[in-house]
Amino acid sequence: MNLPQNQEHKVRVAAKTALATGVVELELASEDGSDLPVWEPGAHVDLILPSGTVRQYSLCGDPGYLSAYKVAVLLDEKGRGGSREVHEGLETGTVVTIRGPRNHFPLGEHESYLFIAGGIGITPMLAMARKVAAEGRNWRLIYGGRSLDTMAYLPEIKALKGGKVELVPADTKGIPDIKGAIENATGAHVYTCGPEPMLRVVEENTKALLGADFFHFERFGADPNAVPEDTDGDTAFEVELATTGKTLTVAADQKLIDVVRKVVPSVPFSCEQGYCGSCETGVLAGIPLHRDQLLTEDERACNDTMMICVGRSRSPKLVLDI
Ligand code: FES
Repeated sequence: MNLPQNQEHKVRVAAKTALATGVVELELASEDGSDLPVWEPGAHVDLILPSGTVRQYSLCGDPGYLSAYKVAVLLDEKGRGGSREVHEGLETGTVVTIRGPRNHFPLGEHESYLFIAGGIGITPMLAMARKVAAEGRNWRLIYGGRSLDTMAYLPEIKALKGGKVELVPADTKGIPDIKGAIENATGAHVYTCGPEPMLRVVEENTKALLGADFFHFERFGADPNAVPEDTDGDTAFEVELATTGKTLTVAADQKLIDVVRKVVPSVPFSCEQGYCGSCETGVLAGIPLHRDQLLTEDERACNDTMMICVGRSRSPKLVLDI
């Protein structure tokens, strides 16, 4: 599979640092000392843990320093175990695999920016704010969290130049005035990452007050409000795996990724719900039926890539770059 975002790299945990209550930072250095791939703010990697669990984490270090990546991981007590494995199972020196980076949350070129982060959602925002601060652009960051001790990267944020930072720990300051901030952000593009209720408020106000084009976001998981796809009309189609030369049939009640996996067991995947991007696959021919929550309308229209965990085919046959 030749998508660069699907390439795997062995990395060593060069440092593991407690950043805040429940948050550790991993510095992941390439095992052979070579540079890791170039990345831009908003990018994330798949972290493939020793147990085989795959989780996505935003890159939050310095994009100019490619000897190592930095990710920050919040311990999710009620999660499925990935963050616990990071917190309790990974130590300095542990070798793990990363896949990527890929970027479904790119930072556009704008006159001014309003960044709104909730909790561990600060990680992509930090990389973005660092970039626009270095470029001398107009920016403002609103960063909410449960309390100051749970909020990662406060020293790094305070060191950023030029913009305006508003820290809103809920225990002493309540919740951020998101509507007010957006009302005063005329012309600014809004970038946000954080818990679902916060994203909803940012989305509603940005679209109402600034316009849909000004709203840019990344969520932690699947959209809980997404309307379930109507699969009643699904039909069978053929899929050719270009690098193997094999053509397979995907029955109406089969998932494309399950059929592909029978021939290529190593095909990458994680969420299997169309939001993480791990299974993104190049399309060489045919018209995909997109059902993911990642690709933009423009990206969908290109028909050159798809998430095979949820996507199917509009044409009788798809040729995938696998
Ligand atoms: S496995 Fe997550 S988008 Fe397909």
